[in-house]
Amino acid sequence: MKRDNFGSRFGALVAMAGSAVGLGNLWRFPYLVGENGGAAFIVVYIGLVFLICLPIFISEFLVGRRSQKNAFAAFRDLSGGSAWRWVGLFTIIVPMIVLSYYCVIGGWSVEYLLNSLTFSFGGESQGALSTMFTGFVTSTWGPLAAHTGFLLATTMIVVVGIKDGIEKFSKIMMPLLFVMVLSIAVYSLTLPGAKEGVKYLFYPDFSKLTGKSVAAALGQAFFSLSLGFGTIMTYASYVSKKENIMLQSAATAVSDLMFALIAGTAIMPAVFAFGINPQAGPGLVFETLPFVFGQMPAGGLIAILFFIALLVAALTSSISMLEVAVAYLVEEKKFSRLGACAVLFVICWVIGAVCSLSFGPLSHIQIGGGNIFDFLDSLSSNVLMTLGSLFTVIFVGWRLKKTDVYDEFTNGGTLSRNAKIFGVLWFLIRYIAPLAIIAIFISGLFA
Ligand code: PHE
Repeated sequence: MKRDNFGSRFGALVAMAGSAVGLGNLWRFPYLVGENGGAAFIVVYIGLVFLICLPIFISEFLVGRRSQKNAFAAFRDLSGGSAWRWVGLFTIIVPMIVLSYYCVIGGWSVEYLLNSLTFSFGGESQGALSTMFTGFVTSTWGPLAAHTGFLLATTMIVVVGIKDGIEKFSKIMMPLLFVMVLSIAVYSLTLPGAKEGVKYLFYPDFSKLTGKSVAAALGQAFFSLSLGFGTIMTYASYVSKKENIMLQSAATAVSDLMFALIAGTAIMPAVFAFGINPQAGPGLVFETLPFVFGQMPAGGLIAILFFIALLVAALTSSISMLEVAVAYLVEEKKFSRLGACAVLFVICWVIGAVCSLSFGPLSHIQIGGGNIFDFLDSLSSNVLMTLGSLFTVIFVGWRLKKTDVYDEFTNGGTLSRNAKIFGVLWFLIRYIAPLAIIAIFISGLFA
């Protein structure tokens, strides 16, 4: 059977950018910036994106496009059938875990979009909105229904296929998403008192930086660029051999970074304009922002725009996570696409339901000081993604032949600019990325 592929360069690019830009940019990045002291965290984050994450991104891209197979088969075939295939399997299982809890937050954005459509935030006190959020997430049926709806939407897009499902959806939604988030940022900057927020984002105070915040920045960069997950690898396996891996990877990293910064600019100035503490943690987007929206002129409309953006960003990412396992089941286990989607829907639904209930009826189950949801989030973004990324760079830098990597990166030697920078890239992949990942991971443990 002929493999489905992305139909165009733009399509491949927006699909990858769609995977990268997600809740990580709009929900996670702003609150992590808040928790880790603002601009200094951002400076470190940018450095890590280009020095460590871009080489990892390119490594995943190389493996996917070289093999043109699912992640399991890619590791298996490129390593001549060795035990590396279990790393491939690892990068297929991890996104399923993340997808399960990601859909819970996706569900919250569905709920908040519905709330914003009825203008429920206007005139409410901050306390009332916090109570509304806590009341919702700790309840049983509402979040479950929202989570089910979000997972169903994800599955329906993926069932349709690469070109007509994932690519088409991303092509329409990504430009829209960009316009929405940019408009909110511009609006936010015009609010009186917005300056403090801008300062907070762009004037670094390095004294606030700790080993833990550097580790958090790396974890966030992995999460935001969808690394260590088999997703970039799987999407890359649908990219034409004519495309330039360097350009596509850099374009994705830059758009992801831009989205994070624009999202920060949409949120922080508004938060400061209303005198709110930016260190609200994970509740920032759902507890704090609705209050801010409720206070600002035309806030009702801005809230609708924001929650549509959040939902769209989450969907273009969740589809990329699901595709990893779908590709595996279809190609290795001979499932039909529909059958694979149905089985994975059920698995993710069950794990997601447990995560959703872990805020309410199951909140007594605590692992490592948090509920099941917190545990899975920190396990995957701090440990599993790190491992996945580390394995991938070691695979490309130490297991694959240098000539093969060169060949894939330069399209058989035809891309002269890529050929020129190959030496630097090879050094980053072989030495800097793995060592930095290990060093930062260890320092994060002890900080
Ligand atoms: N990058 C996505 C985000 O920022 C999350 C994601 C992680 C998507 C891993 C795919 C794989 O929200």
